Amino acid sequence: MKTLGLLLVALLSISGISGVDRNNFKTCDQSGFCKRLRALKPEKSQYSLNVDTVIVHGNVLSAEVVTVDTESEKKTVLWHYALKLSALADGTFRVELDEADPLYPRYRTQLALDGEPKPDGLKLVSNEQGKLTLINSQGHKVIITSEPLKFEFLDLAGDVAVVLNENSQLLVEPLRVRREKEDETAWSENFKSHHDSKPRGNEAVSLDISFPDADHVYGIPEHTDKFSLRTTSSGEPYRLYNLDVFEYELDSRMAIYGAVPVLYSHGAKRSAAVFWHNSAETWVDVVNYADGTVVSSLVNLVTGGHKRRVDARFMSESGIIDAFVMLGPSPSDVFRQYATLTGPAPIPPKFSLAYHQSRWNYVDEADVRGVDDNFDAHDIPADVVWLDIEYTDRKKYFTWDAEKFPHPAEMVANLTAKGRKLVVIIDPHIKREAGYFLHEDATDNGYYVKDKDGKDYEGWCWPGSSSYLDFFNPVVSKYYAERYRFENFPGTSKDVHIWNDMNEPSVFNGPEITMPKDCRHYKPPQDGQDGLASFWEHRHVHNEYGLWNIRATHDGMRLRSDHKYRPFILTRSTFAGTQRYAAVWTGDNAAEWGFLAVSVPMCLSLAASGVSFCGSDVGGFFKYPEAELMTRWYQAGAFQAFFRAHSHIETKRREPWLYDPATAALLRDANRRRYALIDYWYTLFYEHSIDKLPVMRPLFQHYPKEEETFTIDDQYLLGDKLLVRPVVEPGVSSVKVYLPGAASHTLWYDVDTYQAHAAAGWLNQPVTISKIPVYQRGGSIVPRKERVRRSSALMADDPYTLIVALDHNKTAHGSLYIDDGETYEYRNNKYIYAKIAFEPNVMTYTFVNDQASYPTRSWVERIVIAGIKTPPKTAKLNQGDKQVPLQMTLHKGNDVLVIRKPGAIMALSWSIAFSY
Ligand SMILES: *[C@@H]1O[C@H](CO)[C@@H](O)[C@H](O)[C@H]1NC(C)=O
Ligand SMILES: *[C@@H]1O[C@H](CO)[C@@H](O)[C@H](O)[C@H]1NC(C)=O
Repeated sequence: MKTLGLLLVALLSISGISGVDRNNFKTCDQSGFCKRLRALKPEKSQYSLNVDTVIVHGNVLSAEVVTVDTESEKKTVLWHYALKLSALADGTFRVELDEADPLYPRYRTQLALDGEPKPDGLKLVSNEQGKLTLINSQGHKVIITSEPLKFEFLDLAGDVAVVLNENSQLLVEPLRVRREKEDETAWSENFKSHHDSKPRGNEAVSLDISFPDADHVYGIPEHTDKFSLRTTSSGEPYRLYNLDVFEYELDSRMAIYGAVPVLYSHGAKRSAAVFWHNSAETWVDVVNYADGTVVSSLVNLVTGGHKRRVDARFMSESGIIDAFVMLGPSPSDVFRQYATLTGPAPIPPKFSLAYHQSRWNYVDEADVRGVDDNFDAHDIPADVVWLDIEYTDRKKYFTWDAEKFPHPAEMVANLTAKGRKLVVIIDPHIKREAGYFLHEDATDNGYYVKDKDGKDYEGWCWPGSSSYLDFFNPVVSKYYAERYRFENFPGTSKDVHIWNDMNEPSVFNGPEITMPKDCRHYKPPQDGQDGLASFWEHRHVHNEYGLWNIRATHDGMRLRSDHKYRPFILTRSTFAGTQRYAAVWTGDNAAEWGFLAVSVPMCLSLAASGVSFCGSDVGGFFKYPEAELMTRWYQAGAFQAFFRAHSHIETKRREPWLYDPATAALLRDANRRRYALIDYWYTLFYEHSIDKLPVMRPLFQHYPKEEETFTIDDQYLLGDKLLVRPVVEPGVSSVKVYLPGAASHTLWYDVDTYQAHAAAGWLNQPVTISKIPVYQRGGSIVPRKERVRRSSALMADDPYTLIVALDHNKTAHGSLYIDDGETYEYRNNKYIYAKIAFEPNVMTYTFVNDQASYPTRSWVERIVIAGIKTPPKTAKLNQGDKQVPLQMTLHKGNDVLVIRKPGAIMALSWSIAFSY
């Protein structure tokens, strides 16, 4: 069956040797609702609010909205809708608009939110002359104009930050009964040889959003476009529809594997955002009036005095209008507001932030052992070996190929002896083979997604004929979770983690390589609901299918250890909320410079949209990276959250030691750089779980008034301390780097040389093949672990080097998080979260939470203080009742002071006093 998979790849490649086969995927014109909605350009909105029906109760305003026939004299009411506007905590509002009495219930996205959002106070200030004014407890106002319906959200200064329905594109197509002899197009649709039966007819929703004063909008991953989104008027909208796009292309607004429908705006005045809570196929148009592509006469007409404005429009095939409006006002505020709704990522197991070695496929136990041993033989740290689909018994998940992997438990034990782990793939398609327990259980119990006629849906994927588990049924998700128990998946242990791939879901012979939209998913039975009201169609839920898959996996991996150990899961399909369960990689890229470059904006966009744990296949999945590209990719990957090398089965082997010795040494150095900063990464992810800010950040997040930073997406910040500019172009001897901040105020230290640069904007930074520009901000402290080990687990007790980069005032601040790296014991206060502060006279290490502690054996072996200029004469460590004089040496023209072996113990607080 392995050849079957290969055959399919070969077949697919015939049509796409030099990249994506666009014919497999719809353009807006080929997508019925996108074409229909985009063509509508109403002069005036038909929607109006009936002011007599307004009720404000708790944090919610409810009212009736109607559509009226604006063309006719009589203004007949066409349809009735129910509006809900809720005030939520942290400067957030929610606008829901559903039919008042739909023919069948319309789908409401289920898993994106991290529980019910916290309410805020809401008061109706006035209701006169067709305008309602409301205010939340922070003082943000909402002005609702009743006819035509329009919502304006005001910031605390009283300026309009977000407008809904300014361009009259609000639309909820009512569900209705098919009339006789009605035009077929509303009731079915064809794409290539695929027929979509559309049993409910048209049910699209749309809303336009304006961001006054905005210079740019960002977000709505996953696309291979720039981080700052472009005007779409003269081309395709951005598409959000999770798809397995073979050899996806660069600079494209085509949909790929993930869809996170959150849109951020930013300008020097403020940031704001809208989260479009909808899991159906979605297209997003963007018009940026300042980007030069919009005719200037139109700009003046439309933007009404505002020189800057960005408009956007969401169009979804089904669902309701459910939009969260977030009022910032800073970039960090909007990122936090969104991550509060959908939840931050929990602290990942520490090994998962280290280096991963994958390939389709490590073919047998001897191969795995060889890879494992070679890391040691070449002194390259590595934490994880991965197994792709070939480890299974002919693509039957939760089984092993008994010939190639006869001793999985022993193989895992050999890895864990060095502190390493195994990740194996488990895809959601199930092989339809008599005798396969999973297929038989699913068939007997009705666990599969059904086709439009209610029979088990059958598609084609890696195993050949396959069916797909319907995770929307809680019984199925529970059954699936149980499969991950050690006794149900022999050979696994707490050190085996999971990769859920192909979960868009990918269906090789389906429309657009996915499941037909008229397939049926489980819906909890309700009295009196039968026929079309008794199930959801795949069309309603498509973008969240993968989220249901990984949620069940996550449950299973917690069950298997009685909720003791944290799971690591990698997913390809991504939706709002994915970060609560899994890390994400950018799918099947290629060994080309352009794909290395695009890994930065792609992960920046995902990180801003809640998914900080992001990375790209290092080296590229398709094709073979020559030495220079491979080197630059390792150097870049070492500074992205998910750091995994992976490759296609038909490509040449490319483990680091297979390159020439000089290149292998460079790859080793890149890995060692990652391991040296492993505690910085771990601390960043801990802080993300608390403050909900992205780990990888655009420059404008911390420099929101510096317009130059608004479009920079080839460099980024890691936390607020490191600035990274990977080298993503071949043959260069220098790169341009932008150092943000005020020249009189901000310093950036080259981490390789400790050379300080004033933040003077663009800098030409010379590079060699061994250097990528990374800077530490003056005023920050970064922890490092510099002893080379085989894996991160073996570094747990290693001593720290603290890098103190001073600002102009000779001060610096940092933090450090320590726990056992793998359990949930941190929830019982078994951790250390310490602030580290340097002032000219004293350096301190103090715990933020006095109740928490962790018995780490780590200590401080070195403190490096850069930018010292006037060095102290003496330094004395105070810890407990110990007082120890310390030795210091000066380097680099007296600019760098090194305190050798301070010996401070990290399990307890300490301070160092300096005298001059
Ligand atoms: C585990 O390691 C031992 C010692 O190197 C080796 O003999 C054995 O074959 C390994 N087992 C597997 C399954 O790789
Ligand atoms: C230095 O201290 C002054 C006075 O407290 C403050 O205004 C300034 O922002 C500080 N500079 C830096 C670089 O932190």
